[in-house]
Amino acid sequence: MSRVAYVNGTYQPHGQATVHVEDRGFQFADGVYEVWSVFDGRLADFDGHLTRLHRSLDELRIPIPMSRQAMERVLKETVRRNRVNEGLVYLQVTRGTARRDHPFPAEGTPPSVVVTARSMPLSKGDASAQKGVAVVTHPDIRWGRCDIKTVGLLPNVLAKQAAKEKGAAEAWMVDEMGLVTEGSSTNAWIVDEHGKLRTRDSQSNILRGITRAAVMKLIEAEGLELDERAFSVEEVKRAREAFYTSATGFVMPAVSIDGARIGDGKPGPIATKLRTLYLDQARDEAI
Ligand code: PDD
Repeated sequence: MSRVAYVNGTYQPHGQATVHVEDRGFQFADGVYEVWSVFDGRLADFDGHLTRLHRSLDELRIPIPMSRQAMERVLKETVRRNRVNEGLVYLQVTRGTARRDHPFPAEGTPPSVVVTARSMPLSKGDASAQKGVAVVTHPDIRWGRCDIKTVGLLPNVLAKQAAKEKGAAEAWMVDEMGLVTEGSSTNAWIVDEHGKLRTRDSQSNILRGITRAAVMKLIEAEGLELDERAFSVEEVKRAREAFYTSATGFVMPAVSIDGARIGDGKPGPIATKLRTLYLDQARDEAI
């Protein structure tokens, strides 16, 4: 029996239904979802799920894509077209499609809306419920694996957007100890008050930047001192220099943090030198 998916205003054959490659759901996990169960072709707890959907959208500042009535119609039509009597209907709303860039896209970018439905006989769950089921324990790591370059970047997106709204280029994320972890899409560095280069150690909760590793080698080659150790926001404020590294920003001097001047408020000599060295080497070695 052929299945159908609702995608941005049209019902498409399930096998060919697609969203754009630069949909922010795909690029950043920048979206929300809901699941309703279906009994006799009708949606269970429609209002409960819709209210939570609106709350989730509000919290992320994603526009509500359609009225309550329109949403009800689309969900029910998807259930009907898939001939679901018992089963579930799935809704996903993302911040839409835009050129990949962490901050929110231009205002007016329409959210993407996808709805699918599938049959799942209640009898299946009933059989399990009669016997009971096993559970196991697992560490709650949601999401403690910042060392993995996952596309689950919603927290990074929110941090970058907050920076943009404050007129800053990057947000340096701070852990519960008040120590800087890394930038929303970069690794964070300082030249501390004693003149030592510092960046958080990579066993910790950061992405092991490829640019970070290349800059470490340059630091060694230059005979500069490096201390791979986390630093606090206060230490950034006292630092001689600060900068961040990434494949797109290379070595980027940072001259203020939360409005406080870093060093003399100008790109420092070490950051400037490392930027030149990095760019020269990257150009030379590019294949
Ligand atoms: N971001 N930390 C985070 C969270 C990052 O997303 C990135 C890269 C880095 C720096 O890693 P590298 O030096 O390997 O680029 C650190 C890329 C540029 C991005 O998301 O666009």
